[in-house]
Amino acid sequence: MDTEIVRIRQDEESFSGEEDAALRRAGEIIRQGGLVAFPTETVYGLGGDGLNRESSRKIYAAKGRPSDNPLIVHICRSEDLESIVSEVPEAARKAAQAFWPGPLTMIFRKSDKVPYETTGGLDTVAVRFPSHRVAQKLIEYSGGFVAAPSANRSGRPSPTVAKYVTEDMDGRIEMIIDGGEVGIGLESTIIDMTVMPPQILRPGYVTRQMLAEVLGEVDTDVTIMSSDSGQAPRAPGMKYRHYAPKGELVIVEGDAKAVAAYINAQAQADRRAGRKTGVIATDETLEQYRADSVKGVGTRADEETIARHLFTALREFDDEGVDSIYSEGFESDGLGQAIMNRLLKAAGHRVVRLQ
Ligand code: TXA
Ligand code: MG
Repeated sequence: MDTEIVRIRQDEESFSGEEDAALRRAGEIIRQGGLVAFPTETVYGLGGDGLNRESSRKIYAAKGRPSDNPLIVHICRSEDLESIVSEVPEAARKAAQAFWPGPLTMIFRKSDKVPYETTGGLDTVAVRFPSHRVAQKLIEYSGGFVAAPSANRSGRPSPTVAKYVTEDMDGRIEMIIDGGEVGIGLESTIIDMTVMPPQILRPGYVTRQMLAEVLGEVDTDVTIMSSDSGQAPRAPGMKYRHYAPKGELVIVEGDAKAVAAYINAQAQADRRAGRKTGVIATDETLEQYRADSVKGVGTRADEETIARHLFTALREFDDEGVDSIYSEGFESDGLGQAIMNRLLKAAGHRVVRLQ
């Protein structure tokens, strides 16, 4: 199949006639059961009609994703929630009021309208109302209910620019909408609203603290940061090794000087063994590292920058053919928790803690 790539400018108030026509065409593709990748404020999504079982099957096939891993249904009007869920708990109304449109996904009991192909066989459905204007327009033109996982091949880091969508999806889907670099760079926060207190299943830009301010008590799935809890994660997708670069990634935690010394010694040994080495560093420590490819993902004073650059750094190591990657660790609270959660998955939970 030929994949059409269309470009939509960022930061414009309104769509040009040409852009609007392209978005209508994209909407038509989804209505007809086809697939379109599109930008959201978190990462690029791979969209199909969430109410069409055939479309959801195609999404799993294009991603190479196990079909027990449910999809998120994206809407473009809060009131559309009512038709795809059987009940909207009061807490969910409050959270929607506070965080929609935006990077928050909520889990509800599904209505009969949503096929089991979309929910991976579950009686619940994940719903998100993105704030990105291209996403909103596409959802509207597609009929209002777009099922979309991140637009990467299963197991690869989520794409934050269209180039990486093309790398993974060219020839597999009808269209890619290139809307430039995304704003956040990590996938949405997921919270299960079918339990009391509501439970965070995946950390993201909307932090536990922000949710607790609106909802009072919130729980966090214990499997989010640990590899050895012995429990299955409640978001089925979180059990898969995810976001993984091709090289072997190890996280090194401890005093900044000791971390740099350890990583440099490891990298030197790796290089002697003929391996290409990479380091994920912060602005504060960048100068201290000696490796084939040292990437600064931003300053520790601004975790949003780090979030935005993390997946891109992992993809770039792949492009460069790096075999051994070392990363500094990050905070376990706030946005740092989302960053660490993705890094831990990418590293298969390989962590070295220095005293
Ligand atoms: O930011 C995002 O959420 C992006 C953009 C495209 O919107 N989408 C995204 O989708 O990250 P995906 O498919 O890569 O991740 C969805 C996660 C998976 O871990 C899946 O298991 C979980 O959501 N999930 C979906 N439906 C669920 C349900 N009913 N119950 C529990 N977990 C669910
Ligand atoms: Mg994903």
